[in-house]
Amino acid sequence: MVHTHIVLISAPFQGVINSVIQFAKNLKRMGVKVTILSSVSAQNRMAKASSSTPDGLAFVSFSDGYDNGLELSDNLEHFRSENKRRGSKALSELIKASSEEGCPVTGVVYAMLLPWVAEVAREFKLPSAPLWIQSATIFTLKFAMTLRVLLNYPGWERSLVTIFPLSCFLLITFSVGLQGFKEQLDALNAEVNPKILVNTFDALESKALRAIGKQYLIAIGPLVPSAFLDGKDPSDNAFGGDLLQKSRDYVEWLDSKPQSSVVYISFGSFFNLQLQEMEEIARGLLESNRPFLWVLRVLADGEKQEDKLSCKEKLEKQGLIVSWCSQVEVLSHPSVGCFVTHCGWNSTLESLVLGIPVVCLPQFTDQPANAKLLEDEFKTGVRVTKNDEGIVEGDEIKRCIELVMGDGEIGEEIKKNAKKWKYLAKEAVKEGGSSYKNLKTFVDEIEDGF
Ligand code: UDX
Repeated sequence: MVHTHIVLISAPFQGVINSVIQFAKNLKRMGVKVTILSSVSAQNRMAKASSSTPDGLAFVSFSDGYDNGLELSDNLEHFRSENKRRGSKALSELIKASSEEGCPVTGVVYAMLLPWVAEVAREFKLPSAPLWIQSATIFTLKFAMTLRVLLNYPGWERSLVTIFPLSCFLLITFSVGLQGFKEQLDALNAEVNPKILVNTFDALESKALRAIGKQYLIAIGPLVPSAFLDGKDPSDNAFGGDLLQKSRDYVEWLDSKPQSSVVYISFGSFFNLQLQEMEEIARGLLESNRPFLWVLRVLADGEKQEDKLSCKEKLEKQGLIVSWCSQVEVLSHPSVGCFVTHCGWNSTLESLVLGIPVVCLPQFTDQPANAKLLEDEFKTGVRVTKNDEGIVEGDEIKRCIELVMGDGEIGEEIKKNAKKWKYLAKEAVKEGGSSYKNLKTFVDEIEDGF
C-alpha cells in the first residue's frame, strides 16, 4: 500500500504559516507523511526568530525572489508571478524526487492565494485542495459576489442576505480583490471534485458552510495548537512558525497579575496603526486603569512604535509593551480577561478557542465582517464606534473594555458565550468531533485519489 504523503504549500505570511503548520501537525497525527514547501524568506525569518519548528515535519524551501520578505510597498503582482514561476518548478522537482526516493507525493494542499499549485498537481494527476484561512462566511460572500458582480450570474445575492445582512461598507470591502478571488475559483473550476478546506468548525459557521455545500467547504478547524484544544498533546503548545523574535519577559509579568485582570492588545502580523490611533488606544488604556499587555511590532526601519507615543512613561508604569509574543500562550493565561483585536481570522478563532471576550477594532479586508460575526453572531464581544472624523477615541475604547470586562448584564452574557464557544471548539477537534471526522474523510479521499 502507498503511504499517504501530502505536500502543503505555504505563503510567506504569519497568518498563513500558522494555519499551515498546525494543519500539518493534525495530518501527521493521523499517520500522514507531510512535507511543507515554502519560500526562502519565511525560512530565513523563522530561523532568525529562533522559531522551534515542530519535530517530524519536513520543510523544503524555494526562492521566490523576495528572500528578505515581502513589504506592503512591494509590487504584489510581481511577487505573485515570481512565486508562481519559481514555485511551480520547485513543486515539480519535489514531486519527482519523492517518487525516486520511494515515498511518492499522493496529494497536495495549498494556501488558496497560490492557485498555480492546482495546475502543477493536475499535471502530475495528483488530487489537490486549497486551504482557506479566512472564515467560511467570507468565502461564501466572495463566491456569491464573484458570480453576481464579475460573471453577472443572477440569484446569489438572495443567499447573501440570508447568510449575512451586509452594510454598504462591507460590500465595498468585499468588492476589493474580487478579481484575484475569481482566479482562485478558476483554478478550482477545472477540478472534477473541488474541495476547499476551511479553518472553521461546523457549529461556528453552519449557515455559511451549508450555503455552498458541505461537500465543497470542509471545516477542519480551528487550527490552534492542540494543548489549547483537546489537551492530548501538551507539548503542542505553540504554532512553531514565528516570523518575529518573541520577547519572553511577559510570562513572569502575566504571572504576577490577578485573574482575568489584563487587557491584551494586538493588531496581527502586518498592519500598523497611525500615531493618532495609537495615542487614542493609549489614552483608553490609561483611563481604564487596568494592567495591559500591548504588542507593538518594531517597524521595518528598526523604529520602535512605542517611542513615538507621548505618554510612553505613564504606559510603562501600568502595563507592558512587547514587540512580539506567543499570542495563544498569552490568551490562555489566567490573568488575561479581554482581547482588543483587529479581528484577523486567526485572532478571532484564537479568542473563541481560549474563551476570551473581545473589543473589536477592525481595519480592512475581512476584519470588519469578522467583527460583525464576533458581536452579532458569536456574541463574544463589542465593536467600537468611530467619531465623525473616523477616529476611535480613547473614551470609546475605555467604554468597550469596561463593557466586556465588567460584571454588568452585557459583560456577563459575553463571558458566558465565550465559554460556550471554547467548549464547542474543543468538541469539534476531539476524536469523533466534526472537524476530526471531516479531516479523516478528506485524508481517506486523498488516498482514493478523490
Ligand atoms: C491576515 C489578515 O490581516 C487578516 O485579516 C486575515 O483574516 C488573515 O490574514 P493578520 O493580520 O496577521 O492576518 O492577523 P491574524 O489572522 O489574526 O493572524 C495573526 C497571527 O499571528 C495569529 O495566529 C496570532 O496568534 C499570531 N501572533 C500575533 C502572535 O503569535 N504573536 C503576536 O504578538 C501577534
